[in-house]
Amino acid sequence: MTAPDPRLTGPERTPAPVPPPDDIERRRLVSGLNRRRALQLGGLGLLGLAIGAPGWGPSAGLALAAESLSEPETLRSANGLLRVRLEVAETSVTLAGRPAHVLTYNGTVPGPTLRLRPGDRLHVELVNRLSDPTNLHTHGLHVSPRGNADNTLDVHVQPGESFHYDIQLPDDHPPGPFWYHPHEHHLTADQIWRGLYGGIVVEDAGPEVPVTRDRVLVVSDTTLDDDGHPVQVSEWQRMEGREGELVLVNGQLTPTLEARPGERERWRIINTCTSRFLRLRLDGHKVDLLATDIGRLAEPRRVDEVEVLNSGRVDVLVTVGERTGELQGLANPRTRGGDGPSGAPGALATLRVGGSPVPALPPVPAYPQLPDLREVQPAARRTMVLGLDRAGGGHEDHGDGHGSGGMVMTIDGRPFDHARTDVVTRLGTVEEWTYVNHTGMDHPMHLHVWPMQVVAIDGRPVEGVVYQDVVRVSAGGETTVRIPFEDFDGRTVFHCHINDHEDAGMMAVVEARTG
Ligand code: C2O
Ligand code: CU
Ligand code: CU
Repeated sequence: MTAPDPRLTGPERTPAPVPPPDDIERRRLVSGLNRRRALQLGGLGLLGLAIGAPGWGPSAGLALAAESLSEPETLRSANGLLRVRLEVAETSVTLAGRPAHVLTYNGTVPGPTLRLRPGDRLHVELVNRLSDPTNLHTHGLHVSPRGNADNTLDVHVQPGESFHYDIQLPDDHPPGPFWYHPHEHHLTADQIWRGLYGGIVVEDAGPEVPVTRDRVLVVSDTTLDDDGHPVQVSEWQRMEGREGELVLVNGQLTPTLEARPGERERWRIINTCTSRFLRLRLDGHKVDLLATDIGRLAEPRRVDEVEVLNSGRVDVLVTVGERTGELQGLANPRTRGGDGPSGAPGALATLRVGGSPVPALPPVPAYPQLPDLREVQPAARRTMVLGLDRAGGGHEDHGDGHGSGGMVMTIDGRPFDHARTDVVTRLGTVEEWTYVNHTGMDHPMHLHVWPMQVVAIDGRPVEGVVYQDVVRVSAGGETTVRIPFEDFDGRTVFHCHINDHEDAGMMAVVEARTG
């Protein structure tokens, strides 16, 4: 109890608050429960069981009798329009192979996958059957934040009510995997944790990438209690960013994907976890990266591992090798100090290889390179400081039971206020923003509507043209991005996508104005 918790403090911040002893005790209790639950699950007919190190994350290697991968229902646009009704309700489903009582879009976890083309119009009737407000955000889409489009600031759908969203994709919208989720301040983390997320795919506009199969893999995590309800998390877990014991792919524990040797599959991997950072590996098969978030690469790039921050996506091509292999989740620590969260979840899925080899497919056509904003003179350079304060220390306590372990999370010293506009930019300009992290935890920073080109990390220039809509800002470090404020004016937000941090105030308002 002498050393300050490194998560709470960065190099410039002293003195560091020390977590109260009861939090540490509670954390030990949670670890104990994890082990007990793993043992119970073992008694429920699971085949393999290995108990990992105590603490965060699932006990490694809970292997379930092989279940083949299922995909959520796909809803496709026709003649430039996708009209969808999404009903949000508490529902009983099968999750991780057991009965669960969760929140769903149209009765499934994940919700239906929406498939769109550049230039399409997406019309969503969101019906709220919950006892709390909710709303809808189309994460990563380059669309208007105003009116009844991707408007998370003004649209709140009350219990029993519904709302019609009307979202127009520009004709040159970048292709790639995106997703939708609720964005109701103070409730975002809980609602995602309890099951509200679904994939969006924007198809390529150019020549098709020849593949034998196109799959959407929605990764999520949660922890279920003995009755199958997602657990309430402690204040400590909110402070660190909650992580679930169960790491799921399309709602399943280690599902099996079947393929023949030589096949080329396209996997759109979407990390919808509320906090968990992923690092993925698929030994024995060739993996080529096609896109990160909104950033389609000009040429596919061979990789050994890919990182997918929470809320981030990758679009990869998998050329199937000779042998069955596992999609492995490796550790990707996001706090200073050893035993922090985002430990290795272990095998997430099995790629089972069988049958006769198939002939090689034609090469992947080149794709137009996204503009390199390093060649542009920025209209403004700004710094955004990410911080963390004890509640009450100069900030008002919400007094509503929300917050993160008595902590207030801030950008430039202030917690989120929807009525305040923190940053005003001019439409048609490029800005350079540097996120500076004064805490001892990494924060994945996300901006709505406009993509970010990552140009420097901790002062070192980034090679190549890398576009993301969520960027890692390391504990005590800084990340610099360039943002093209193009096409859409209006007010929207940028925030840490550890949803507990966002709910605790690490979010601010940006407005792009014309003229
Ligand atoms: Cu994925 Cu502000 O959201
Ligand atoms: Cu978003
Ligand atoms: Cu954060």
